[in-house]
Amino acid sequence: MQFDIITIFPELFDTFKTTSVIKHAINKQVITINIHNLRDYTDEKHNKVDDTSYGGGVGMILMAQPIINAVKSIQLPNKKCHVILLSPSTNFFNQEKAKKFEQNFDQIILICGRYEGVDERVKQTVVDETISIGEYVLTGGELASMVIVDTTSRMVKGFFEKDNVLENESYINGKYIEYPQYTKPEIVEEISVPKVLISGNHQEILKWKETNKIKYTN
Ligand code: ADE
Repeated sequence: MQFDIITIFPELFDTFKTTSVIKHAINKQVITINIHNLRDYTDEKHNKVDDTSYGGGVGMILMAQPIINAVKSIQLPNKKCHVILLSPSTNFFNQEKAKKFEQNFDQIILICGRYEGVDERVKQTVVDETISIGEYVLTGGELASMVIVDTTSRMVKGFFEKDNVLENESYINGKYIEYPQYTKPEIVEEISVPKVLISGNHQEILKWKETNKIKYTN
């Protein structure tokens, strides 16, 4: 799976790409993450990528042409590509979308919106889907793009050492279903690990996990 991220702040992705499991997945060539500086795709003087809003309004708007140029030059020929604009909207990201991205596409291009918005013609020309990661306004789409890359990457075969990591986790009707987890030491603040988990009886442990699956509502 290849992710291509278009941003005016490429440096925000430095630690994201070089830390922990995402770094390992890149090294194993399970995923590829390319960061593209939008300023490299503008024909304007001084690498300008934004301008004031027609009709007036506060703040600057990202210009259409640099983004369209970037998408067109990044898109891989003969690959199933999906172009996402990160922006406040009512189309929210979730686990199911991540699964669909992993199953249906080879390349995902993520356009990080900034300032007061993006020229509407970007949506009319190169965007397949506008996605928000939640009902709040971020300073830009960069964090949102990391959320999508992170969640989708976990679904790619070979991301985890063991393929069964994903078996026990699920979202059902917006609720996260899992059993409580414990690690050493056995006692913390006078609270002990449930005895069955240290019994060594695998059947009993499985039974306990099944009956203790709980719904985290917050
Ligand atoms: N840009 C600003 N806010 C956002 C959000 N909630 N999701 C995605 N992109 C955004």
